[in-house]
Amino acid sequence: MSTDAAGAALQGLLSRQSVGIKHLREPGPSDEQLQRMVEAALRAPDHAGLVPFRFALVRGDARERLGDLFVQAAIDGGKSQADAMIDRERAQRAPVTVAVVARIDSGHPLVPAHEQWACVGGALTNLLNAAHAMGFGGKMLSGSKVRHPALQQAFCEPGETLLGWIALGTPADSPSRKVNKPRAADVVREWQR
Ligand SMILES: Cc1cc2nc3c(=O)[nH]c(=O)nc-3n(C[C@H](O)[C@H](O)[C@H](O)COP(=O)(O)O)c2cc1C
Repeated sequence: MSTDAAGAALQGLLSRQSVGIKHLREPGPSDEQLQRMVEAALRAPDHAGLVPFRFALVRGDARERLGDLFVQAAIDGGKSQADAMIDRERAQRAPVTVAVVARIDSGHPLVPAHEQWACVGGALTNLLNAAHAMGFGGKMLSGSKVRHPALQQAFCEPGETLLGWIALGTPADSPSRKVNKPRAADVVREWQR
């Protein structure tokens, strides 16, 4: 990698921040761009190459169906009709929504579950960073609805876990830089035992 490319890649990592659904617009990423994002996700550290995740793309008319499921989960969870409509909007506003489904083998003889979850986190982070590098905005979202049976059934095979959804689209405006991140020094100390 050239020095310029390394600098640009690092600048991308240092500038990524989540872009909430209400700030996302068309166009969403194309098939080719989504493929690049998934390729980036597949570069996550993955002990024993288990690939403990998969993605499901929700776009076009499928967003209506996701909206119906969000409404069902909202009503079943005790939300008012008005709040359930906000949840419908959440399902339908982003041009592309990527469901993140974890496939954790909790009985694996070599790789404990926490290492597999770490891989899932790396994968979704790489996907978000790749989206950012291509000029898209995104945000990982979950909420109690991930545990609603209708949503689990809609997204998961037996043994899988629905982690949540990454909303993707074009940022409507340039987001103001978040200042609430910890400083590097806050999370690093010399080890001297
Ligand atoms: C698995 C997962 C689920 C999340 N679920 C939510 C959520 O439901 N609602 C929310 O506001 N943020 C959620 N977040 C956090 C946001 O995606 C985001 O990281 C956070 O708002 C910090 O913003 P930043 O990415 O710009 O630092 C989730 C993050 C992860 C990794």
